[in-house]
Amino acid sequence: MSSEKSGAPAYPMARGCPFSPPAEIGRLREEEPVAQVRTWDGSLPWLVTRYDDVRAILSDPRFSSDPGRDGYPVTSAGMKQQHKANPTFIAMDDPEHARHRRMITGEFSVRRTEALRPTVERISEELLDAMEASGGTADLVADYALPLTSTVICELLGIPQEAHTFFQEHSNALLDVKGDPARAGRAVEELTSYLTELVSRKLAEPTDDLLGRIVERRVRTGEMTEREVASLGILLLVAGHETTANQIALGVLFLLQNPQYAAIMRDGDDKEVAAACEELLRLLTVTHIGRRRVAVEDVEVNGALIRAGEGVIASGDAANRDPRQFTDPDLLDIHREQNHHVAFGYGIHQCLGQPIARIELQTAYPAILRRFADLRLAVPLDEIDYRGDMVVYGVHSLPVAWGEER
Ligand code: HEM
Repeated sequence: MSSEKSGAPAYPMARGCPFSPPAEIGRLREEEPVAQVRTWDGSLPWLVTRYDDVRAILSDPRFSSDPGRDGYPVTSAGMKQQHKANPTFIAMDDPEHARHRRMITGEFSVRRTEALRPTVERISEELLDAMEASGGTADLVADYALPLTSTVICELLGIPQEAHTFFQEHSNALLDVKGDPARAGRAVEELTSYLTELVSRKLAEPTDDLLGRIVERRVRTGEMTEREVASLGILLLVAGHETTANQIALGVLFLLQNPQYAAIMRDGDDKEVAAACEELLRLLTVTHIGRRRVAVEDVEVNGALIRAGEGVIASGDAANRDPRQFTDPDLLDIHREQNHHVAFGYGIHQCLGQPIARIELQTAYPAILRRFADLRLAVPLDEIDYRGDMVVYGVHSLPVAWGEER
């Protein structure tokens, strides 16, 4: 492993402003753009904070995404185990990664994902109806963001309506990092066995949904096993559900604190709303613990030598505020040209679900702001519990109110 560096700062660092990366990350980006940091298990991966360096690492095959390799900066003790039990292509390198990813890229084409927009709009309106009917307050995370994203994934995959609750309960257990690891383990097992059985049913009775089409095109032809399709379902659930839900909830909180931007989201045309969504992705970068990689050869990055077997954390949140790439990086600017942020990653692992995430965000923010013109926080701002110690940043809950004060 890396040569010992006693003064390496602990990572992740605490935030000052809940909407911005820790100030220490900004300092490193300016003074020590490739710096060793100390993570939860005492290891010393390299934290890379400049935009160009982050993109260079994420597009360089000399950095591996395989958590099974020695030196990979795992985010928890269970991560290696989880990968072994349920290997998915987000944690594989090419050519294996490309072979798996290719099997489903067609499902994420612009044409296919645009066809999902009315479904997302319907789900959003139904949730807002339920919120409105229940009175003048709600938890925006539990009552809107999470059910919206999990129902979208269910409809995308082709999970039958009667299993939505089962699926949502188990996916919550799976994503609750603070919860009992044994419970999370059981949730993976139960979801896998549910999905494997569902795939068998789709093999017997074809359905026109993502899993159904994969079954027809890949399982029937012998390219994928039923178990592999089940693992793919879990990958899409894990990668797509919590990220989007937190981006929605934290984004709404940001908008409530910044009414001038909320006005753009509420009253803007499609182009302005889309541009504001991109800026919220860039500014908030909820995948705040960086893209994790391990060097498979010695590589020099911005003057620092990263040796084979050493871990690297490519910090998307720091890169997205790099003034070398973005003028006035801390401002939300819907007229920003060439907004090539890295909130969805970069290189071969760049987010496959980004067209769907965009549809969800472009729907969710305007819909809630238009429905409740006086949407406001129901608790003081300093009572909000942020997810600083979770894999995906955001808020644990977001009490909101509308209508007359009670
Ligand atoms: C705001 C929402 C989202 C954010 C911020 C986000 C972010 C990311 C990032 C940063 C990566 C790169 C991982 C790496 O380099 O190691 C990634 C990969 C991935 N995402 Fe997303 N994502 C979001 C929504 C979604 C959705 C909705 C889906 C699916 C429906 C999805 C599916 C995936 C998949 C399958 C990968 C792995 C791609 C690969 O390894 O080739 N994501 N995402």
